[in-house]
Amino acid sequence: MKTDGRATYSAKSFDHLKGLTGISDGQIAEHLDLYAGYVKQVNSLAQELSEMRVDRKEAGKDFGLAEGTRRFAYEYDGMVPARAVLLQLEARRRLPAQRSPGARARARRDIRVGRALAGPLSGDRRHARDRLGDLFEDPASHRLINQWVSLHQDGIPARWNPLLVLDVWEHAFMRDYKASERAKYIEAFFKNVDWSVVEQRLREPAAVKSAA
Ligand SMILES: [Fe+2]
Repeated sequence: MKTDGRATYSAKSFDHLKGLTGISDGQIAEHLDLYAGYVKQVNSLAQELSEMRVDRKEAGKDFGLAEGTRRFAYEYDGMVPARAVLLQLEARRRLPAQRSPGARARARRDIRVGRALAGPLSGDRRHARDRLGDLFEDPASHRLINQWVSLHQDGIPARWNPLLVLDVWEHAFMRDYKASERAKYIEAFFKNVDWSVVEQRLREPAAVKSAA
């Protein structure tokens, strides 16, 4: 692939992410494939769009360029949450022990955060159609807010800081669970969250976060 000096994203390695509780290595491998696919598509589409913009000056009249431009958000906004999901998981045996007083206080807050996110799903587990449950920090008020995102290229509040990303599309769990067992998957998901990553996201200013 030719490059024009623009940012090129590379898929981060998650080789260590094995032996999760209630989520098989095969299920994680599927998620890794999807993530790698988004990264690949973002890179090639960025390149194609830069070339198209040189050749085709009137973007408004060029349906290919217009669709490619719209498509970029789909690929990019697929890459970022897919990576966020992987970054926040860790096998239980590798999670830091939560024995110090500070760690206990953090754990109490983490449980509150987890309940806040899990709550809306628990009432409608069989029929939940939301595909991505994100816990965000509103940068203006610093409140923690659940936002349900049906399509990842749509419905993410601008500049809000995603703290915890829960993918509940069927592809995220149907190797391990049936379609009707989403609740079991969500339960397993929370057993593998590395809350130190969530906490770190809360502390980081949004402007310094890397994208891929
Ligand atoms: Fe997904």
